[in-house]
Amino acid sequence: MAVVLASGIAEPLSQLLSVMADGEYIARDCAARQARAASDERSSRFFRAQATHERFHALLFRQAARYLSSKKHAKTNHSLGLRRYARQLDAAVGAGRWNEVVIGQQLVLENLGELVLSKLDDEMSRRGVGMERMRSIVLRQERAHYHFGTQWLEARLLDGRLDAVEAKDVVERYVGFADRVLLDVAGLLEGVEADAELYRQEVRERLPDWATGAIA
Ligand SMILES: [Fe+2]
Ligand SMILES: [Fe+2]
Repeated sequence: MAVVLASGIAEPLSQLLSVMADGEYIARDCAARQARAASDERSSRFFRAQATHERFHALLFRQAARYLSSKKHAKTNHSLGLRRYARQLDAAVGAGRWNEVVIGQQLVLENLGELVLSKLDDEMSRRGVGMERMRSIVLRQERAHYHFGTQWLEARLLDGRLDAVEAKDVVERYVGFADRVLLDVAGLLEGVEADAELYRQEVRERLPDWATGAIA
């Protein structure tokens, strides 16, 4: 990996990748539990594959974070908001609230992860950081997770297994948790010349219309 990062960028980028690795482990655990609970074979297979992808992403980000940093990061406590996010997902999984789980995991968390990753990807491309092929594979997989979750939810909205008003409420709640994560990493984003406030807006803009209330 050829790294030609300006001094001052490598450390916050490393810490961001470390927080993202924490997020990937949350996604891995959640997808593995979704796979075990899924009532149809197609969903079960997809979630199982997703869990494998997320584990790969976590290992990749952790490795990249270590490579970029001159310091050792603690494995936990990077983002209290992310830990809170994980607790909410964990409670929803435990209670079998699968619509909420897919909203929290595939719709909002994937959306946030893919957004941050695609921006970092642009930044890393501009700065000549290597691993292009690896980064494009990860982005493609994240988009597939988001796409699958969106379709899964839309099928339920159509057949009445998911109520539109309830869905919007749950989306709003998880977008609020995502805001908290962005607030936690705002300083790190600033360190790589990104803006947490713009990300907050973009997370909302990228969601489907039914999720944000643009279409009743
Ligand atoms: Fe991932
Ligand atoms: Fe993902």
